[in-house]
Amino acid sequence: MGLLNRLFYKNRKFYDDDFDWNNYTTDSYERRVKGDIETKHLAKAKQEDLSFDASTGKVSVRSGTLHENHQLILEAIGWLKPKSVHEVGCGGGDHVAHASKLYPEIRVTGSDRAEGQLDLAKRRHPELGDKLGLQDITMPFSTQWPQAELIYSQAVLMHIHTAVSHFVGLSNMTRMASQYVLLMENYQCHNFVSDIKALWEGGHLPWESLNIHRFDGSTGARAILLSKDKLNLPLLNSDADIREGLEVSQRRLKRSGEDSARGTFGY
Ligand SMILES: C[S@@+](CC[C@H](N)C(=O)[O-])C[C@H]1O[C@@H](n2cnc3c(N)ncnc32)[C@H](O)[C@@H]1O
Repeated sequence: MGLLNRLFYKNRKFYDDDFDWNNYTTDSYERRVKGDIETKHLAKAKQEDLSFDASTGKVSVRSGTLHENHQLILEAIGWLKPKSVHEVGCGGGDHVAHASKLYPEIRVTGSDRAEGQLDLAKRRHPELGDKLGLQDITMPFSTQWPQAELIYSQAVLMHIHTAVSHFVGLSNMTRMASQYVLLMENYQCHNFVSDIKALWEGGHLPWESLNIHRFDGSTGARAILLSKDKLNLPLLNSDADIREGLEVSQRRLKRSGEDSARGTFGY
C-alpha cells in the first residue's frame, strides 16, 4: 500500500482495526515474523523437536526456544487435552502446525479472514492445506464454521476495534467452542474480562455456565481461559486481575474504554 493511503487512514477498508487485513501480509506480518520471531525463536519446529510432559505441564523444544505466547498455547492444549482445537486468525499457521505435530491425536484446524495470510500459512506449512479455511470471526455466526472443544486466538481480537466487532468475535468464539475459549492477547487493548462478563450477563454467550480463569505458560506468558466447568486455575474477576504487574498504556486503556462503551447488552 502506498504512503498516501497509509496516511489517509480513513480510506482504508478496515480503518478502525489496527491493520488493513487485505494488505497485512506484505505490509507488516511477514517482515515481523522473520524479524521478531524467527531471529530469536523456533517458528517452524519439527515433530521430533517438540515434546509435552503431562506431569509438569511443560512443553520442551529440543533445539532453541518457542516464543512465550506460542509455548503457552501448546501447554494449554496439552493440559486441557481437548479432542479438537481451532485457531481463529491463524496467520502464518505456525501454531496450527506445531499443535498438529505435538498432538497428532487431536483434530487441529485454523482460519483467517485474510486470503494473503492463508496463502502464507500454506507456503510456510504445505502439509496444513486442508486444515485451513477462510473465516471472518466478526461476521454473523455461520453453521458452516468448524466446531471444536477448544477455540483460541493469539494476537487477533486485540487488533479489532471496528464498531462492536470484538464483541461479535468473542460471542462467535464461544459459540464455536463446546468447552473452552483461550485468549492469548494483549490485555490492555480491550477490557476483555469486563466485556466478557457484560456479554454473559446480556445473554450473548450461548454457554449454560461460564468460568473466567487465568492460565500461565511456563515461560512467562498469561492467557484468559473461558471454560464451562470450573478448573483448578485462578479465577479472574476484573481486568485489573489479568493486567496485574503489566506496564499500562493510558492510550490503550482509553481506547479499550471507548470500545467497551459501544456495546449494548441484553434486552
Ligand atoms: C497479529 S496477526 C496474528 C496471527 C497469528 N495468530 C500469529 O500469532 O502469528 C492477526 C491475524 O488476525 C487475522 N484477523 C484479523 N481480523 C480477523 C477476523 N475478523 N477474523 C479472522 N481473522 C482475523 C489477520 O488476518 C491476521 O492473520
